[in-house]
Amino acid sequence: MSAEFTTTLDSDWYVDPEIYAREMATIFGREWLLVGHRHELARAGEYLATELAGRRIFVLAGKDGGLRAFHNVCRHRAAQLLPEGNGQCGVLRCPYHGWVYDHDGRLKKRPGFAEEESFDGAALGLFPVRVEEWRGFVFVNLDPQAGDLLSGLGDMAAATQGVPLERYRFHKRQSYELDFNWKTYTDNYLDAYHIPYLHPQLAADLDMATYRVVNGDRVSVHHASPRAKAPAGETGAYQGLFLWRWPNNSLGVYAGGFNICRILPQSVSRLRLLFDFYFDPEAGFSEAEKDRKAAMTCQVVEEDFPICSQVQRNLEVGVYRSGPLNPRLETGVAYFHDLVRRAVGNRP
Ligand code: FES
Ligand SMILES: [Fe+2]
Repeated sequence: MSAEFTTTLDSDWYVDPEIYAREMATIFGREWLLVGHRHELARAGEYLATELAGRRIFVLAGKDGGLRAFHNVCRHRAAQLLPEGNGQCGVLRCPYHGWVYDHDGRLKKRPGFAEEESFDGAALGLFPVRVEEWRGFVFVNLDPQAGDLLSGLGDMAAATQGVPLERYRFHKRQSYELDFNWKTYTDNYLDAYHIPYLHPQLAADLDMATYRVVNGDRVSVHHASPRAKAPAGETGAYQGLFLWRWPNNSLGVYAGGFNICRILPQSVSRLRLLFDFYFDPEAGFSEAEKDRKAAMTCQVVEEDFPICSQVQRNLEVGVYRSGPLNPRLETGVAYFHDLVRRAVGNRP
């Protein structure tokens, strides 16, 4: 699909708390969002609890092996049931007044209520959240009316068809807390124009004349051939597939491994990035080699942070409003802005 817009979003999209609130409701409140991987939920009772668009949720592995997801809020007086992070849950008991729920979300006990044996546990059950899996990755959707996950993934499923994602094993997670808008980061990820300026090592390894950005349904895929004269073995980190998925993931697949990133807005000017690194056991990398490959990706990612912070501060002061996008190397940014505009609608 070709981009409909050739200028950036106006600066107030990056600084206005009202627009941010609308984005949380219309984008993060409606799209399928990656929350983790099945390896974190392999055994009955394992859970992961997290916050998405300001709402706390948890996903729990049931005794039947299926996944259930709920809002992390007690039906009595709204306490948070499970602490954020990963854990193992036997009895799901609220820490505030001891209400107990089963792993299907039904209320089982409410201590001190006279009719304790006769209440309707389903009527006071936990608020459910949609949860689905795709190739080991676990996604939730806060919108009960949303379509299925596969439609939500758009062209990501087709673009990764030949990649043996299931074979790869988790190695490590790298997280970052940053002081800019989630779109400031996403713009930067989707922008191939800056590579020679901010990433000299990456630019030296790639033949930038071959760089292509192909936007599909909810994805932007970036291709570039490695430079022929790059030393053998050092281009591996950059070969393969670089894909961004609406609204907030990137996937980098390279020889023997991949990383998947979640771009998690925390406020209009703060975000968290979570990078999970996976490697192919058949590639035979040592732990040190895996660490080195992950560190190469992190170095490229971190090279962008100072500029992103400066961009955010400049957007906040209001001198700059909007600028033109490069018709070859910033079409991913144009496509992203188009999706944001369409999801959020007219500015408040
Ligand atoms: S808020 Fe959970 S038992 Fe009271
Ligand atoms: Fe970059």
